[in-house]
Amino acid sequence: MNAEVARWIDRARHAVALTGAGVSTESGIPDFRSDAGLWRDVDPMDVASTAGFEEDPARFYRFWLPKLETIRNAQPSAAHRFLARLESRGRMQAVITQNIDGLHQRAGSRRVLEMHGSFRTLRCQACGAKMPIERALDSGKPVPQCAECGAERMRPEVVLFGDMLGPVLRDAEQEIREADLLLCLGSSLAVHPVAGLVPLARRTGAKVVILNREGTSMDDEADLVLRGELEDLVREVAAPLGL
Ligand code: APR
Repeated sequence: MNAEVARWIDRARHAVALTGAGVSTESGIPDFRSDAGLWRDVDPMDVASTAGFEEDPARFYRFWLPKLETIRNAQPSAAHRFLARLESRGRMQAVITQNIDGLHQRAGSRRVLEMHGSFRTLRCQACGAKMPIERALDSGKPVPQCAECGAERMRPEVVLFGDMLGPVLRDAEQEIREADLLLCLGSSLAVHPVAGLVPLARRTGAKVVILNREGTSMDDEADLVLRGELEDLVREVAAPLGL
């Protein structure tokens, strides 16, 4: 089956990847819904929703700042590097990611659609001033403070539960409509509207391959499901391609 996926990649006219937190666990960043996932010990509505952020920014940053330190020092995984190599060989046109860790770009991928934004920049909700996350991390403050107006209302430019996705969703749908191959890596494909890109790919004629350790909500939409550790799956698919 892995050799079949390699053949599909080699022959694809417009291959696109859709990734989730599972591509970053090998980089030391926990995912959300695995047994060791982030949502095991905390209610995502408290720390990953707009209402939760508004209600208690200190709780929000208590949860995220340590993870952002991990992300700052993380290295790309085999899956990140594989997708970047495919793009450099013209075998991958875009990576659509739900991740906010920036590791696809750090691995060398250039066309990356960040569906859930990133923590790269914080924006003051009082005066609109922006701050790079590094400054917030280096300040050591439990809640980042606006350098312009002093308010403790700095919100990261990530998509939280309750937010609408911006124009990036339209860009992703366009990539999917042009795709003849969609590789889904490391996602439970449980969160819409991103998960809806998988049936859209099927409807517009793309072959769908899901590579994941566990079953996903979209396995029935896939032409092929490769079950296992991404590090192993990616190596087995890359081998016949000489990557
Ligand atoms: N190899 C293969 N699969 C893996 C690996 C690995 N090394 N590590 C984790 N996985 C799989 C898990 O089995 C799981 O099915 O990756 C999947 C990750 O799924 P989730 O934790 O649900 O993450 P994701 O799909 O990215 O979540 C989507 O939900 O909470 C929101 O905004 C958050 O972007 C996130 C969205």
